[in-house]
Amino acid sequence: AVIKRADYIAPAYWIDTVDLCFDLDPAKTRVLNKMTLRRNPDVPAQALKLDGEELNLARVLVNGQGTSFKMEGKQLVLDNLPDAFELEIFTTTCPAKNTQLMGLYVSNDSFFTQCEAEGFRRITYFLDRPDVMASYSVTLRADKAQYPVLLSNGNLVAQGPLEDGPNGARHFAKWVDPHRKPCYLFALVAGQLVSREQRITSRAGKDHVLQVYVRPGDLDKTEHAMNSLMHSVAWDEARFGLPLDLERFMIVATSDFNMGAMENKGLNIFNTKYVLANQATATDLDFSNIESVVGHEYFHNWTGNRITCRDWFQLSLKEGLTVFRDQEFSQDLAGVASARAVKRIEDVRVLRTAQFPEDAGPMAHPVRPDSYIEISNFYTVTIYEKGAEVVRMMQTLVGRKGFAKGLTLYFERHDGQAVTCDDFAQAIADANPTSDLARLLPQFKRWYSQAGTPRVHAQGVYDAAERTYTLTLAQSCAPTPGQPVKEPFVIPVGLGLLGADGKDLPLQPAGETDAVAGTRTVVLTQASETLTFINIAAEPVPSILRGFTAPVVLEFDYTDAQLLHLLAHDSDPFNRWEAGQRLAVNRAVNAIKSIAYSAGGSDASVLDDAYLEAMRQVLLHPTLDAAFKELVLTLPSETYLAEQLDVVDPQRIHAVREAMRQQLATALAADWEATYQAHHDTGAYAPDAASSGRRALAGMALTHLCLAAQASGDAVWPGKTLQRFKDAGNMTDRFNALSALVSSGHALAAEALPRFHAMFKDEALVIDKWMGLQAGAPDRGGNILPAVKQLMKHPDFSLRNPNRARSVISTFCQGNPAAFHRADAAGYVFWSDRVIELDAINPQVAARLARALDRWSKLAEPYRSAAREAIVRVAAKTDLSKDTLEVVTRALAD
Ligand code: ARG
Ligand code: ZN
Repeated sequence: AVIKRADYIAPAYWIDTVDLCFDLDPAKTRVLNKMTLRRNPDVPAQALKLDGEELNLARVLVNGQGTSFKMEGKQLVLDNLPDAFELEIFTTTCPAKNTQLMGLYVSNDSFFTQCEAEGFRRITYFLDRPDVMASYSVTLRADKAQYPVLLSNGNLVAQGPLEDGPNGARHFAKWVDPHRKPCYLFALVAGQLVSREQRITSRAGKDHVLQVYVRPGDLDKTEHAMNSLMHSVAWDEARFGLPLDLERFMIVATSDFNMGAMENKGLNIFNTKYVLANQATATDLDFSNIESVVGHEYFHNWTGNRITCRDWFQLSLKEGLTVFRDQEFSQDLAGVASARAVKRIEDVRVLRTAQFPEDAGPMAHPVRPDSYIEISNFYTVTIYEKGAEVVRMMQTLVGRKGFAKGLTLYFERHDGQAVTCDDFAQAIADANPTSDLARLLPQFKRWYSQAGTPRVHAQGVYDAAERTYTLTLAQSCAPTPGQPVKEPFVIPVGLGLLGADGKDLPLQPAGETDAVAGTRTVVLTQASETLTFINIAAEPVPSILRGFTAPVVLEFDYTDAQLLHLLAHDSDPFNRWEAGQRLAVNRAVNAIKSIAYSAGGSDASVLDDAYLEAMRQVLLHPTLDAAFKELVLTLPSETYLAEQLDVVDPQRIHAVREAMRQQLATALAADWEATYQAHHDTGAYAPDAASSGRRALAGMALTHLCLAAQASGDAVWPGKTLQRFKDAGNMTDRFNALSALVSSGHALAAEALPRFHAMFKDEALVIDKWMGLQAGAPDRGGNILPAVKQLMKHPDFSLRNPNRARSVISTFCQGNPAAFHRADAAGYVFWSDRVIELDAINPQVAARLARALDRWSKLAEPYRSAAREAIVRVAAKTDLSKDTLEVVTRALAD
């Protein structure tokens, strides 16, 4: 059934209090749910319909009396109810068999919950919708030896032994959450866990205890998560005046988790991948992801929990805003401008490689969708990352201070409520009445309602006689499913003009008296607009969309000379990086389209001297950050290149990109060597921006040195790389050395890989990396698919563990285009088998994998027909989950 945003109606009843008592048992957990309810006087009197899924119903009492009820599908329906009453429902569930990991489940002999979006109905019958907010008290009862730690939201108010049951001593814990919440924020955890604890005092002088719970043996991997949590608490207070509102704040890690983490009130539950780290087992990327995700979940405490969503169509209200906040947090922690820019570039890279394709494909949806079949399918890069860009544009339009003021007004108005994206945008605008946002609010909100990535086409004309430079900016947006025609967006465009010396020219629009050097933000509202700048002595090079001020595709017909000028001089680091990317994209696209270029001819020359020389200049630049250099020297991904083409031949893209990589390696071999020597020693390990940038660049140098050695037959650098792999003092250096051998296809990889496995056989997250590295390695003659099938037979493989399944299957199907898109269609057959297999175990994981063929209609033959056939095969399966069915149905409609 399709759920529509327009159909929203307030609930017929409110639930004021919920008292839950759990008797925890993997095979049969008993749940006693006592609620107080009252009729919502604002809607017509009607039956109470409670959601439930896979529950065994034992008893229903209204005000302590047995009552008649009926089942309508999965809903429990009660009629003829008083205006206010107590409802008692007794059910049982089987957590051990819950392979979907939604509701109450068992992982490594401990109990965990995941309720967002609609998992609470798998725990008890309830009004499972975010606008029903209640006060919870929770009693957990379990075997004390097996489940010594019993956690739920809020404050621990009582605990102690229970009378001995048949299985030995049992105990209980009672938790009371002082804050009202929607049921998707409910959580419980029970098991053998240990915790790192930290006491802190807030700016306001309140004491809090922070805890990170993990399995015994993992405590030495919790320091970074705890540091990240302490930074998060301090940052939200300092930047937005938002303090921790709980005495106790807990993070618990589990190795079986569908997504990254969950912001349950006071009891965040995390995928171990985003908690556990020490220098021996985690890379710099892991450390930085942990910082973001810990921040993200913590920031939800205000943006998501204190103010939540009225309905799930408003998901970006909390997710877009909270991603924006975690991005700002990481930038602020990075500190210096150059490190902030690196973070911004990384965020934009995610947006463009993952969200732009989503916005151009069959699953395209607005930041605030109009309909869905399964809400789990809408935890997307559009809701999260594009949603964050929409919030960022608001901040650009009202300024940093204005945005903080807007957030304050948002909390003044809506604290404790379940609200909409409109309410949020209104608060930001109302707090800044003279801003462009306030002036343009209805049009600005098209970012919430219209899907698709706008294109801004820019043209510049220099008039030497008049000394003017005229820029014409025209916007358009292609149709998306259900939206054939788009109205113009409000697009803030950061703009600068570079003179011949590379410096920013003073910008003086015609009709204005002042000229200000640097960046100007122009706000586009029309389909086409023209801007004229005066007093321009010579033709400038425009730097448009500085800082990536809007989630759009900017088209400008730059000459190579202009791009090289921007790469050498742009004061805006984002556009400086972007110029290098454009140079590479242009070369790649020309080679991919050129008939002369034969796929597989990796000796073909794609890169010219001017490009290579420019890259050398960046690599050897005396003042640029290592992290920034690494970003500039990284070629656009195969996925990004595919989006630049109308017809996609993944093999051709791969061959061209590999040829480019090889050329960069060979032509700059001496420079890579110098770079490695200058950067490989970063001293005692710390995951800070500066030293991780150095490690990244050293790792990149090693990969290119191994590639160059492969071409020349030289054995020195592969040998040094193997030695580095063996001697490395941290996982970043070790893994970079290993991937240099793997990604250059060197024979020594066969020695290093088993060694790596033996070293880390008991570290699940490292084994994930080990499998992922092999599934994501460059394809050579179709060797990856057989390797992937072999990995699935490895004793460490498990389809039931989402991290493990993703490290092999998703890495192959969604992270390795050339290995996956095979002319013999074997990749697609493999994909359809896995989607079907996974769907029976875990529909959320299956539906994500199902999206690997979203862009099938852009593929060249024979890929296109074969891909469609594979989707048809999945769609034809009976008993498919709503999740997977929605994805493949939409794909076939493309
Ligand atoms: N709200 C969580 C976050 O943004 C993710 C929700 C997980 N949802 C799910 N269906 N498993 O961090
Ligand atoms: Zn979130």
